[in-house]
Amino acid sequence: MHPKIVVLTGAGISAESGIRTFRDPNGLWEGHRPEEVATPEAFSRDPELVYRFYNARRRLLISSEVAPNAAHIALARLEQVFGDSFLLITQNVDDLHERAGSQRVIHMHGELMKKRCSFCQAVSSFDEDLTIHAKCVSCGKEGGLRPHIVWFGEMPFELDRIWSEVSGCGLFAAIGTSGVVEPAASLVHDARTSGANTICFSLESPENRGAFAEFVEGKAGDTVPPWANEMIASQP
Ligand code: APR
Repeated sequence: MHPKIVVLTGAGISAESGIRTFRDPNGLWEGHRPEEVATPEAFSRDPELVYRFYNARRRLLISSEVAPNAAHIALARLEQVFGDSFLLITQNVDDLHERAGSQRVIHMHGELMKKRCSFCQAVSSFDEDLTIHAKCVSCGKEGGLRPHIVWFGEMPFELDRIWSEVSGCGLFAAIGTSGVVEPAASLVHDARTSGANTICFSLESPENRGAFAEFVEGKAGDTVPPWANEMIASQP
């Protein structure tokens, strides 16, 4: 059975948790736009730079400055109440949904707290800084480890499942995403084609605003909890 409610989250939901969004005007890191560092080409050209970028992002994520906010918690509550009728898809690589209590999350762009071996493809937890000399815990080879992240130009994870679930849902909600990165930006069209209701929550109007039946402007921490409460209260 398809879930009735599918929620897609983006960087905006984690902004109030202390993680900068991608298209933040102050989003430069060591003078680079994230899009210049998060590519297979950047990794081949300068692996140390790419390691530094992800080591820094991972350290921030586990620091005491970052914690799930009210919007993450509201979505975890929706999963608790709706069970299999609810599915969360995130473009975020942080683990704030899990830390808020969500258990069934599709990380379509990968996970910052995991690393992958380019030789044997084993995925393991990323709990120490990555270096060019780190060894894979599975095959023992050195120099093949990379963040378990979908870089620009790579294929997002679990796309067939995502398309199938979105095409069968009754309500599709997007939260804190600018609607510019494909294929996530087009999921709203797949939902609409199959007759789903659609709603978008964001601080600013996203690129794909026109595809949503409803747009709720504001911070996710303010707008998502009342909506989740309403959904819970109105269930039969
Ligand atoms: N509450 C809700 N929305 C917010 C908040 C907030 N507190 N703060 C910012 N936003 C909105 C912004 O207005 C913007 O529309 O969140 C959106 C964030 O957009 P992006 O930075 O483009 O993030 P996202 O859409 O998740 O990016 C998609 O692009 O770089 C890649 O792989 C990366 O997963 C990422 C993908």
